[in-house]
Amino acid sequence: MAGRSPAIEQTLRMIKLVAASRCNPILIVGDTGTGKEVAARAVHTLRHRDQPFVAVNCAALTATLLESELFGHVKGAFTGADRDKTGLLETAETGTIFLDEISEMPLELQAKLLRILQERSFRKVGGVKDIECRATIIASSNRDLKKEVREKRFREDLYYRLNICPILMAPLRSPERRQDIPLLAQHFLKTSNICSHRPTPVVSITRLALEALSRHSWPGNVRELRNVIERAIMFETTDKIGLSSIIIDPIDGEPLPLAPSTDARRKDFSLEKAERELIARALHETGWQKTQAAALLGITRATLYAKVKQYNLQKDKPGVEGVSLPASEPAEALSSSAPC
Ligand SMILES: Nc1ncnc2c1ncn2[C@@H]1O[C@H](COP(=O)(O)OP(=O)(O)OP(=O)(O)O)[C@@H](O)[C@H]1O
Ligand SMILES: [Mg+2]
Repeated sequence: MAGRSPAIEQTLRMIKLVAASRCNPILIVGDTGTGKEVAARAVHTLRHRDQPFVAVNCAALTATLLESELFGHVKGAFTGADRDKTGLLETAETGTIFLDEISEMPLELQAKLLRILQERSFRKVGGVKDIECRATIIASSNRDLKKEVREKRFREDLYYRLNICPILMAPLRSPERRQDIPLLAQHFLKTSNICSHRPTPVVSITRLALEALSRHSWPGNVRELRNVIERAIMFETTDKIGLSSIIIDPIDGEPLPLAPSTDARRKDFSLEKAERELIARALHETGWQKTQAAALLGITRATLYAKVKQYNLQKDKPGVEGVSLPASEPAEALSSSAPC
């Protein structure tokens, strides 16, 4: 699990504590994309890495199908049951059964799950034999389970049975986790194989691009960040992800840095505009400290002076402030290497 923030440190401590105990069931809660499945796999690895990890999405199946998937069925239990079927609870053996999106489990199945948690045994659909449940049961939810209980969609007794030592996954935007954004970005850059066939791999991220990532509120959390990084790797034409390749929402009107325009004059104009805006912003953000601004832009002081003159940039002159994101970075925009 990548992360060094106080929130993730706290989560890791909890994962270790719970994994080392005999706590069963285990509940993991957090918004979508915060890493609940990653946490579940971490608990599993720490507790019994050589045993099976079986994941079931409770939202993906109808009540009948989910029941037969979880418990299995005996031959003749219902039309079409032409042979015995082993359920996932049994398949998990002494490993882990991960009940993803537990809040979506139909109420009648919630009652059956509660019974399993209390008696540690179950029966196949249509079966008469009690089968011991030896697996660690990990349930996850991105809904507020207390609210689900209040609204009578989730059984209160099951909620309290699950809620022994919950593992909480903080949203990426929370002050306790925000500092993980650059670290996670670097992590995905390093581990992504989305363009692994490219002759010049993308190996780093510019400071401005990281700043843009840090400003976003990440409603889709770590998953959204991963997508943005993978998209940036695809669009990037140099070995360093720049602002122009950071597209937070590709279907929300943000222009995609795709094929160059055939109208050379228009292209030149937009590049100049982007360069001017970027230089203005670097100057503004460094309080017109030219050495710092040049370092931020990755150019020499002499080049910066030349550009300031070329674009007639002046301190406190309109256009120097309020540069909107995303903007293009000149060096990258001028690169001729093709994206993958
Ligand atoms: N700490 C982390 N380090 C590295 N990758 C992570 C981390 N947290 C999450 N991810 C990655 O982010 C993505 C989403 O994580 P995961 O599937 O665990 O989220 P989730 O909370 O289960 O989401 P959902 O509620 O939508 O099911 C995955 O690709 C996962 O590998
Ligand atoms: Mg999940």
